[in-house]
Amino acid sequence: MTTDDRPMTVPQFTALKGSGRKITMLTAYDYPTAQWVDAAEVEGILVGDTLSMVLQGHANTLPVTLDEMIYHAEMVGRAVQHALVVVDMPFPSFHVGVHRAIESAARILKETRCQAVKLEGGVRQAEVIAGLVGAGIPVMAHCGLRPQSVHQLGGYRVQRDEEGLLADARAVQEAGAFAIVLECIPAAMAERVTAAARVPTIGIGAGAGCDGQILVLHDLLGLTAGRPPRHVRPYADLHTAAIDAIRRYRDDVRAGLFPGPEETPR
Ligand code: KIV
Repeated sequence: MTTDDRPMTVPQFTALKGSGRKITMLTAYDYPTAQWVDAAEVEGILVGDTLSMVLQGHANTLPVTLDEMIYHAEMVGRAVQHALVVVDMPFPSFHVGVHRAIESAARILKETRCQAVKLEGGVRQAEVIAGLVGAGIPVMAHCGLRPQSVHQLGGYRVQRDEEGLLADARAVQEAGAFAIVLECIPAAMAERVTAAARVPTIGIGAGAGCDGQILVLHDLLGLTAGRPPRHVRPYADLHTAAIDAIRRYRDDVRAGLFPGPEETPR
């Protein structure tokens, strides 16, 4: 959130690097959760393609489509007043040529009120990033573990190729990316990339040395069943709280206690 209460802009977001203030980002996929995150005054909100897993129940992020990303981003864009909103480009919307990538990213900006896109990639996606930036579309890059390449990588593993990572970070920065997400890499590597980069690094499973942090909101709130990934600190257990509330409602209905006089029109 900016001090004058206007929405965070891309240049303001980038300028947070070196300002002494760590950047906080979270995902949101719909209107009410985007309102929560924005009310908590974080700097950035990501409409992540993790919605494929978290909301749609798929095994990975590959199935979600561009139309579905736009559907969710439009709800988020309508809710947010302060934070910068970034939308993930789904697989394979940026692998089919620069022209098609610009068309897809432009649809995201035109149809959702969101301000930027994010895409997974490094050296090999530099040409696409430069094309998008040339078209006036701000790009956040995503290096390290790239979940859309899960089959090629053989799973969600910590990425340890430091030379490759430094080359990727350099390439996306030179192509015009305004920030770089670093996912699932050793903390020391993230620190070195952060020191070398002019633009902010946003870590997830990359230690505390990045310029900012991002988490999946549903993990932070404990909204989903099962154990969260190691990099997550659950700040609440809303999954259990929700089931408990629903059971109490069910018990009241069965006992004839709901609705009571308060909930009954006269
Ligand atoms: O899709 C997503 O939610 C992400 C974050 C986990 C960085 O890319």
